[in-house]
Amino acid sequence: MVMNTRPIGIFDSGVGGLSILRELQKQLPGENYVFLADQAHVPYGEKTPAQLRTLAVRITKFLLTYDIKLLVIACNTATCYAINTLRNRFDLPIVGTVPAVKPAAQYSRSKTVAVIGTPATIKSDALTMLIETHARGVRVVRIGCKGLEDTVETGLLDGARADTLLNHYLSRVPRSADLLVLGCTHYPFLKNRIRRSLGRRIRLIDSGSAIARRSKSVLIASGTANTRGRAGLTRYFTTGSPENFASVASKLLKKPVRALRADI
Ligand code: DGL
Repeated sequence: MVMNTRPIGIFDSGVGGLSILRELQKQLPGENYVFLADQAHVPYGEKTPAQLRTLAVRITKFLLTYDIKLLVIACNTATCYAINTLRNRFDLPIVGTVPAVKPAAQYSRSKTVAVIGTPATIKSDALTMLIETHARGVRVVRIGCKGLEDTVETGLLDGARADTLLNHYLSRVPRSADLLVLGCTHYPFLKNRIRRSLGRRIRLIDSGSAIARRSKSVLIASGTANTRGRAGLTRYFTTGSPENFASVASKLLKKPVRALRADI
């Protein structure tokens, strides 16, 4: 039994990263976590590449003050634009989140899939490269969804707004598509609404469990996994309002969450 209690650092622009955190907690329950939601700067999907890189560097520096052993970028947008910068600059293992195009292309029978994500992710070179590398011979329809993350940030209080946006964006998913990739970590919290809006059987695929599996193998390979039986602790920080974060996060995770304010 190994007792490496150094935490895993994880960040997103907001509460979306919790969809990755919950998978990590499931697959690596003994680990400690430091989660940062950069809510002072949400939405990342409308930031420039330079802004995204600057924010990612500042957040990583903050998380390193907690002596993290692994950094998980629980944000597709930040991964697409800043993972190389972080890897060049910081000497620790980094796992990023990208839209699950590779498994989608493998599983698709109709050879047509759609990807929804933030405007920045959808227009990124990183996504183009992912498609060129892993989805040869598959039609991939890219749909940028401005404002959708905000319906999750506000705790889905205004469900009607989420439905209006989803009906608008999902009308562009071709009838022939048999898989929809959720290319933003906020969207898994909208799964039921997405299914209802599509109104037909289509498989939804997100990156959560794959990111947790990858993180686990990185920790095991570097001999830093914490395999003790007892549940680890998670500390939550936000650059926005801790009260607001705590209330939305408690609702999304279905358990009480307390948060502190962080300045990055
Ligand atoms: N959750 C983020 C992602 O996966 C970004 C949402 C946003 O801030 O625009 O891309």
